[in-house]
Amino acid sequence: MICWGWQCGGDGFSSALVAQIDELASFSDSPAPSVTRVLYSDRDVQARRYIKGIMKQLGLSVREDAVGNIFGRWVGSEAELGAVATGSHVDAIPFSGKYDGVVGVLGALEAISVLQRSGFQPKRSLEVIMFTSEEPTRFGISCLGSRLMAGSKELVQSLKRTVDNHNVSFVDAADSAGYKIHPDDLHNVFLNQDAYFAFIELHIEQGPILEKEGIPIGIVTAIAAPASIKVEFEGNGGHAGAVLMPARNDVGLAAAELALAVEKHVLESGSIDTVGTVGILQLHPGAINSIPSKSHLEIDVRDVDEKRRNDVIEKVHKSAIDISKIRGVELSEFKIINQDPPALSDKSVINAMEFAAKQLSLEYKLMISRAYHDSLFMARISPMGMIFIPCYKGYSHKPEEYASPEDMANGVQMLALTMAKLSLE
Ligand code: GLV
Ligand code: MN
Ligand code: MN
Repeated sequence: MICWGWQCGGDGFSSALVAQIDELASFSDSPAPSVTRVLYSDRDVQARRYIKGIMKQLGLSVREDAVGNIFGRWVGSEAELGAVATGSHVDAIPFSGKYDGVVGVLGALEAISVLQRSGFQPKRSLEVIMFTSEEPTRFGISCLGSRLMAGSKELVQSLKRTVDNHNVSFVDAADSAGYKIHPDDLHNVFLNQDAYFAFIELHIEQGPILEKEGIPIGIVTAIAAPASIKVEFEGNGGHAGAVLMPARNDVGLAAAELALAVEKHVLESGSIDTVGTVGILQLHPGAINSIPSKSHLEIDVRDVDEKRRNDVIEKVHKSAIDISKIRGVELSEFKIINQDPPALSDKSVINAMEFAAKQLSLEYKLMISRAYHDSLFMARISPMGMIFIPCYKGYSHKPEEYASPEDMANGVQMLALTMAKLSLE
């Protein structure tokens, strides 16, 4: 029988966590309350330093891999056994909020601190991971760090050529943040299948269900399948006054038509679970008096049903071809950046989370995650589970994102107890 002394010790820890979240939010390239923290930017480097500092204060042994995934390990009494890991990300898309990912990193460190203060002794080592670039902002690929950890050879190849919007290569960007990467060494980031006994990620729900139903904890059973596509149309462009309408091949209109086609094909699936978004639509040269000669779209399509999502992608591709023919423009690129399968949580981790919720007398709901997470990739190399906490009106990826100290405290306690239980198995 474990003595969970911290359960009766009050929740003073939530105010420390809130202060850390606020401090981390100050490392931002956009004004508060928004947060913008992009991979390998100066702000990202500040955030990394901050996280490593807390890991060291907790006495964790800290290591970083080639791309800057950060690991803080509390070595257990049977260190040769697979560790119990947790973690999330602290990069933030432009003008987002301060809780996405951050709760799963700072909250995980708080969970470690809570266990240490309680006198708990782990058998399996406990590890907190701060994943590099869960968000696709800079190089267009989501979950870069965890995707590599899970052994993506395609990503190793593509990172050799990838550049950002300012033509800075991945390797140069990493170098500017202090990571000297030799592209041939990227496979060193891969982890073995037996590295972890379990992986658990704490995250805000990013949807409205828990708050609406007044339930403090979500136990995630599956993560929906995300895909992203880059499309480019090219045309003749020309003077907005001089080129008459019959003589144009306006790629801005081709892009607009494709955006509407995305919505149409998503709705045709007939399922509320199919979603599609054109989050990036750029026109070149971007002048009011110049007909666009190049348009660039980035399209996000997701579903809990992989086949249904793939059907939408096929239809969008066909529409892009049809639109280019009808409008006399060139479809110069239709590239599927990622087309990931969904992931299922592991029964052993779900059981441990349910045990923790019961011990803590916290009502919980089994639910799916519609957002993707590093857990999607950790599930490829470890039994995986996720703990959700409510967030205000389900807001996320915008400055109004908010999770209450009480909900975060519940999440931290759930995580601490789940890890402790798994650590002793
Ligand atoms: C993660 O940030 C997502 O877009 O689901
Ligand atoms: Mn996010
Ligand atoms: Mn996230």
